[in-house]
Amino acid sequence: MTTVAPRSVDPEVDAVRHHYEVSNDFYRLLLGPTMMYSGGYWEQGEDLVATLDEAQERKLDVFAALAGAQGARRVLDIGCGWGTMLNRLTTVHGVEEAVGLTLSRTQEAFIAGLDNPRITTRVESWADHATDDKYDAAFCINALEHFVSSNLPPRERTKRYRFFFGQVYKALNPGAKFVLHTMTAEAQPMNRELLADLKFLQRSEFEGMHIPHLHELTAAAEGQFEIVEIVNERESFAMACRAWLKRLAADRATAVALEGEEVVARFERYLDIFAYTLEDKFFNNFRVTIARRG
Ligand SMILES: C[S@@+](CC[C@H](N)C(=O)[O-])C[C@H]1O[C@@H](n2cnc3c(N)ncnc32)[C@H](O)[C@@H]1O
Repeated sequence: MTTVAPRSVDPEVDAVRHHYEVSNDFYRLLLGPTMMYSGGYWEQGEDLVATLDEAQERKLDVFAALAGAQGARRVLDIGCGWGTMLNRLTTVHGVEEAVGLTLSRTQEAFIAGLDNPRITTRVESWADHATDDKYDAAFCINALEHFVSSNLPPRERTKRYRFFFGQVYKALNPGAKFVLHTMTAEAQPMNRELLADLKFLQRSEFEGMHIPHLHELTAAAEGQFEIVEIVNERESFAMACRAWLKRLAADRATAVALEGEEVVARFERYLDIFAYTLEDKFFNNFRVTIARRG
């Protein structure tokens, strides 16, 4: 069943835990063995479910190459989920130490179970992470969507994004690369159904989530990072949502036994909303590679 833990003093932390502290068994059923909760790289004609794991691993390998992480001494993954990237960096890409940040205690427990001495997991917000031992590369894969509250007025949001890039800047060595995968919003006309669905996302499932516009991010990174590449990979995330929905449908009775009908129905609704809004080009999913200025 869903973890029932005392509420923290921070409503933003509670909002993240509401979603990410559903049991690891449920997430394994949903996401499959790779436990990646973000877009994958499928090739033309591949079956979404049969190649989910491969598609996720392909993406991680492309990200590792883009960040120049091969053989790196120390790498950071901000919003590390169940540690799949940390594990791949240290077991396939020769990284000596991979540090992951998450707010989810169930994710931390899952990563501990990987028993990989090269991984350090911290239940800590990106906003509080400080280190004297700088990183050679960093990643943030579909986590930024949780980092800046929609309850902030626009000007404060911009400052918060700037603070985020400032934190990454301080943590990295000069010239080090940062690969960010994030949804962004397009300025599209809305209809009543879409408004109701966005309200559900923002008020019920991911309270306070703000999906930024690309220009908010590029403005916030300016001066601290040089842009290397920006690619819109909207389909990669929509396809992952469709694959997870199929996995859930195929084993729905087990999912309900694990978490109850209400949780399963919530997940079905939110995944369908993300899938169709990405397919309809209301949301994007940008892969942004930037390099820390010297
Ligand atoms: C959609 S999951 C993505 C996980 C992983 N990157 C992946 O691609 O599978 C978002 C992650 O962001 C983390 N997160 C949310 N807010 C955070 C914060 N303020 N600081 C650090 N991690 C945070 C969650 O705990 C979760 O691990």
